[in-house]
Amino acid sequence: MPSVKLGTFFCPFFKKKMKDILILETVDSTNRVARELAAVGNPHGYAVVAGSQKAGRGRLGKSWQSPSGKGLYSTILLRPGLGIKEYSRITLTAGLAVSQVIEEICQLKVALKWPNDIYISGCKCGGILVETSSLHGEADEYFALVGIGLNVNADKESFPLDLQKSATSLFLESGKEYEILVLFEAIRTRLLQLVSQLALEGFTDILNQWRERDMLLGKWLQWLTPTGEVVFGESLGVDSSGILSVRDRSGIIHEVLSGDLTLAPK
Ligand code: BTN
Repeated sequence: MPSVKLGTFFCPFFKKKMKDILILETVDSTNRVARELAAVGNPHGYAVVAGSQKAGRGRLGKSWQSPSGKGLYSTILLRPGLGIKEYSRITLTAGLAVSQVIEEICQLKVALKWPNDIYISGCKCGGILVETSSLHGEADEYFALVGIGLNVNADKESFPLDLQKSATSLFLESGKEYEILVLFEAIRTRLLQLVSQLALEGFTDILNQWRERDMLLGKWLQWLTPTGEVVFGESLGVDSSGILSVRDRSGIIHEVLSGDLTLAPK
């Protein structure tokens, strides 16, 4: 367990206290710590932020490079009181929240790659790993852990050689450096607003805004399914459950619930 006091944290950038946050210099994975803190009853909106991670986790068992001071590594605990069906919507909602904040603060155009990779100018700038509690029992007890990794002040050399062509950062795209905690607090505020909207008004408006940023729509792609099968097809976009459809050459429509998608030549 972390050895830092929980609760409020004085943030010099805001000249005020940040509530419900645990800030750690370094950690294995903020998602791992957040799960422990969720299990002992921490509230909706509670967050863990780390300066660096030693074992940052990505989707599909990949790792997430987390060098000190170069990126945002955070996990936000959500207890949205929604049913199981809504949880795939939370994944897309998180991607939209991060996109909107980058667009507003950095004045950059963001594209989303299903389910919620953050792309700028064709390169990956961030990713989101949503993990849930076991979805048994009362909906009130469910929680989601929204793990957000964002390349903020990284230069090309900060990325491993194999990622230097495909990865980017807010600094590389805008030429400006950003205060990581300021970005984080804007993202947390927006995510909590959008999750309330999801609960009160439904998914339609959030989905429409997600679709405006969908970088795969109408594109030919390769889908590596969770069972290791490879499917080539055209993306037909995302439906109202947050599921992506892909039509292969023979016209069969596949529902993509998970797995890896990459753009492919037709
Ligand atoms: C992906 O694109 O594969 C998702 C990457 C998610 C990385 C973040 S960094 C903070 C949080 N803690 C983790 O261990 N992973 C997520």
